[in-house]
Amino acid sequence: MTFDATTGLVLREGTIFERSRAGRKGFQLPDPKVPRVRPKGFTRKAAAELPEVSELDVVRHFTRLSSWNYAIDLGTFPLGSCTMKYNPRINEEIAALPGLTDIHPDFPPAYVQGALEILFTLEKILAKIAGLDAVSLEPAAGAQGEFTGLSVIRTFHERHGSDRKLVLIPDTAHGTNPASCTLAGYKIAPLKSSQKGALGKEAVDEAIRTHGRNIAALMMTNPNTLGLFETQIADIAESLHEIGAQLYMDGANMNAILGVARPGDMGVDVMQYNLHKTFSTPHGGGGPGAGPIAVRSHLAPYLPAPRVVRNDQGQFDLSYPEESIGKVKGGMGNFGVLVRALTYILHHGSAGLKEISHAAVLNANYIKRRLCEHYALPVEGPSFHEVVFSDAKQTPHGIKTLQIAKALIDRGFHPPTIYFPLVVSGALLIEPTETESIAELDKLIDAFIDIAQLVAKDEKFENVPTKPIVGKVDEVRAARTPVLTLDDRGQ
Ligand SMILES: Cc1ncc(COP(=O)(O)O)c(C=O)c1O
Repeated sequence: MTFDATTGLVLREGTIFERSRAGRKGFQLPDPKVPRVRPKGFTRKAAAELPEVSELDVVRHFTRLSSWNYAIDLGTFPLGSCTMKYNPRINEEIAALPGLTDIHPDFPPAYVQGALEILFTLEKILAKIAGLDAVSLEPAAGAQGEFTGLSVIRTFHERHGSDRKLVLIPDTAHGTNPASCTLAGYKIAPLKSSQKGALGKEAVDEAIRTHGRNIAALMMTNPNTLGLFETQIADIAESLHEIGAQLYMDGANMNAILGVARPGDMGVDVMQYNLHKTFSTPHGGGGPGAGPIAVRSHLAPYLPAPRVVRNDQGQFDLSYPEESIGKVKGGMGNFGVLVRALTYILHHGSAGLKEISHAAVLNANYIKRRLCEHYALPVEGPSFHEVVFSDAKQTPHGIKTLQIAKALIDRGFHPPTIYFPLVVSGALLIEPTETESIAELDKLIDAFIDIAQLVAKDEKFENVPTKPIVGKVDEVRAARTPVLTLDDRGQ
């Protein structure tokens, strides 16, 4: 058995190990003596017109572009629901260790005992934090975790002879929730939150009376996207369990309750973590991420395979349980993100994780307290990791959320999430995270107050933002008639 450094494949007697069943099945390597035929029509007629650039040109180009970017390493990034917190450098150092970067997912388990131990350990810790029984690290994003969790639920119902078709979703849900349900083959029944912004047990009981055992699951986010804790979640779980339905929890906001409350104790059957948010790995702009799912024991047999197991001799191996839903991601998941998350968890320890939640909640409430006389608060109740305001005090002056966000850019900050959650008209969703100091929070708050005071004096904020390299973008025109050419500087 050899490892081919050029192709990155593990070879054994002329076969390549099939990735998902390493060591079980193989397929034949192409015969090198048989000439490869390039399909017709794929050959270029003329040389590609590529610019000739030196290394220096390339370095300057990308350095210039990077200086146009705004990032958490430059300043506060209060994007609600996204948990843009500082990514400690120790995570990067550990993830860059050659023993972790120079391995391949197709290596036989005997060659990668350390890597498998990392996965095994992370699974155990995430299960403990969730108060649930088993974890799969495979999904590569929160949304993929949702899809995987729902697929597990679906398989569970099918194996128990039940063909349920519906998933209940509250109106405060993140857009990925209904999308994941649809992908998993479910229909959606929306639930209305109460005036106070949380989901009431009455709304769930009413849905149960209407749809009965056609309900496969309820998908709720806790704390929810308004930054509120769903206080009736345990009672809701009981109602669902009485009809055999499952409670799925979107755990994207776990940074608010780490070490303080466990979804398992709330009656949750399956949840996803957004590892890249809660456990600080660099993300944004669509990736990279990891969305492990944690489940109660009755759902464990259906988790994605392969599973990392430890045998009686303490060796790690891969197993392929018969009832597994199969593979949802290549390799063993987004390994680099998983390593960073484990580093973060071990670095802080359990007491540290609890402090993180306390600080995240404190920071959000500090912002709420200082800004509440300047911006309208659409929902009552204590905030957790984030706080939602609206533009209700500004609209009488002709200023809406969009202009507030753009005016904030001119003051050197990334704007918060705007117009989400959809249940709040003109929403400004601010998530400061626990990594901002009070001095940085004050700068952000002062910028918000400055804008509110100018609005009160009827400042119109025309053409904001005026300071960044890219000014006000006509997004509709850009999407409908994109112009894909170089500018006069050739950039
Ligand atoms: C509440 C909530 N659920 C799900 C997701 C989806 O996670 P991801 O972007 O990792 O797919 C997000 C993302 O921000 C979220 O805020």
